[in-house]
Amino acid sequence: MQLHISPSMRSITISSSNSNGGFIDLMKIKVAARHISYRTLFHTILILAFLLPFVFILTALVTLEGVNNCSSFDCLGRRLGPRLLGRVDDSGRLVKDFHKILNQVNTEEIPNGLKLPESFSQLVAEMKSNQYDAKTFALTLRAMMEKFEREIRESKFAELMNKHFTASSIPKGIHCLSLRLTDEYSSNAHARRQLPAPELLPLLSDNSYHHFILSTDNILAASVVVTSTVASSLRPEKIVFHVITDKKTYAGMHSWFALNSVSPAIIEVKGVHQFEWLTRENVPVLEAVESHNSIRNYYHGNHVAGANLSDTTPRMFASKLQARSPKYISLLNHLRIYLPELFPNLDKVVFLDDDVVIQRDLSPLWDIDLKGKVNGAVETCRGEDEWVMSKRFKNYFNFSHPLIANNLDSEECAWAYGMNVFDLHAWRKTSIRETYHSWLRENLKSNLTMWKLGTLPPALIAFKGHVHAIDPEWHMLGLGYQNKTDIESVKRAAVIHYNGQSKPWLPIGFEHLRPFWTKYVNYSSDFVRNCHIMET
Ligand SMILES: *[C@@H]1O[C@H](CO)[C@@H](O)[C@H](O)[C@H]1NC(C)=O
Ligand SMILES: *[C@@H]1O[C@H](CO)[C@@H](O)[C@H](O)[C@H]1NC(C)=O
Ligand SMILES: *[C@@H]1O[C@H](CO)[C@@H](O)[C@H](O)[C@H]1NC(C)=O
Ligand SMILES: *[C@@H]1O[C@H](CO)[C@@H](O)[C@H](O)[C@H]1NC(C)=O
Ligand SMILES: *[C@@H]1O[C@H](CO)[C@@H](O)[C@H](O)[C@H]1NC(C)=O
Repeated sequence: MQLHISPSMRSITISSSNSNGGFIDLMKIKVAARHISYRTLFHTILILAFLLPFVFILTALVTLEGVNNCSSFDCLGRRLGPRLLGRVDDSGRLVKDFHKILNQVNTEEIPNGLKLPESFSQLVAEMKSNQYDAKTFALTLRAMMEKFEREIRESKFAELMNKHFTASSIPKGIHCLSLRLTDEYSSNAHARRQLPAPELLPLLSDNSYHHFILSTDNILAASVVVTSTVASSLRPEKIVFHVITDKKTYAGMHSWFALNSVSPAIIEVKGVHQFEWLTRENVPVLEAVESHNSIRNYYHGNHVAGANLSDTTPRMFASKLQARSPKYISLLNHLRIYLPELFPNLDKVVFLDDDVVIQRDLSPLWDIDLKGKVNGAVETCRGEDEWVMSKRFKNYFNFSHPLIANNLDSEECAWAYGMNVFDLHAWRKTSIRETYHSWLRENLKSNLTMWKLGTLPPALIAFKGHVHAIDPEWHMLGLGYQNKTDIESVKRAAVIHYNGQSKPWLPIGFEHLRPFWTKYVNYSSDFVRNCHIMET
């Protein structure tokens, strides 16, 4: 590459040897004599030394900002040239030439062994010293830009995955719903109305009613659980719902149920901060769990670092992230072990997870004879579905750990959370909570090597001997696990449970299983509509 300034300084030519040994003019700038000025020269030098880095930076910006349909190469001359070269005479020609040569290489394969300069200043330096022919130069330029774009794309992937993760735990629409309903709580007196009405308060501890307890920070999911329970009930006037949520969701959750009556059923919404019993003193292990350093890192750490992007699909990635969801250490999730203390006046309750849909009247659950046991649950080691229904203790615990091996039977059948009948009266006579606490502590001491995650494993130990198996038709599992779920069984089941990562409110939910859930989403609610929930 040569920069040639004519003796009369009437023209400046940037030329380069071509493969035939001759010179081709890469750029030619004619300068009218009268106008010779250092400024003109300056512009020319500018082109050489600065245009390319500029192109680079601007291209990067274009890529990042997503100005579409402008492959960076095409855009070069069109978008960037005129702006920079506008004041140089004959700039039209210059830009055209430049554009032409870039176009030439645009369609060519980049040679495999092409050595790329590390940076743009290096390219400029090499450009001055080496005798680059125009084509090599342009190819190098292009290869560098493509490499740069690739890097941007990879960082985008990481960013997308992060977004995906965020979206997985709280999709935008559900977050929006929570924000808007919280707003409504402060601006609309009706949204703040007492729940239930004062004259109904005594029913909250009346054991002749059917008490359901639900603990969640997902308002939409809560609305589906409550709506489906009430809609499927033969005696909805007997239903009392106790919805427990965290402090940040309290106002929004309250607004929703204040504005969407579940009458004739009764509902109360409580924040964890409203339970006097829930103190650090009474819940010592949870404090320890949350502050344990390695746990914090495991659940809240950087999930993208270390992920192999080339062999990861969004669904697999989401599944990995799901397993590390902070929900496994959230108080809302562990709350179920404190039901006897949180509802001291109740004798028998049904505890529901937020990822279930109720399709049949559940009042017969209160008539099941638990035979003195505390927990009526479906077992998960027998059943037609060989994958979902094959869970024994060995699936949840590390039997290489001596404490586990000495205390548990690896073949013992596991049971499921999601829909449980709890006899709180019987529960209060046991030491289930203490057992739960002591095993949580042991697992912490062993650096979480006894079991990995979840509230189920310590409960499997704590409830040992206190479980009464109920008919599997009551509670069908696995709708968030796999695509093979049998639709006929889904239709028959009293309660369907989207356990697994493919929750029906997530983009990764299984499409053919979603309608059983969306059926109970109130799409005529302005809040649901305005937050564009589950629109496709
Ligand atoms: C990522 O996965 C691909 C395909 O399985 C493999 O070839 C590559 O070596 C992996 N990279 C890392 C850094 O593990
Ligand atoms: C737990 O991990 C810490 C640090 O990683 C280590 O010092 C300690 O020995 C481990 N404890 C057990 C019981 O493995
Ligand atoms: C299982 O327990 C053994 C013994 O404590 C331990 O060496 C091993 O790392 C544990 N496995 C897992 C997956 O935590
Ligand atoms: C799930 O299975 C159904 C029917 O077998 C099929 O149509 C659908 O494409 C599958 N979806 C996924 C995500 O695998
Ligand atoms: C759905 O929302 C509309 C509008 O807010 C309300 O009038 C209606 O009662 C709701 N339906 C149910 C089943 O909650």
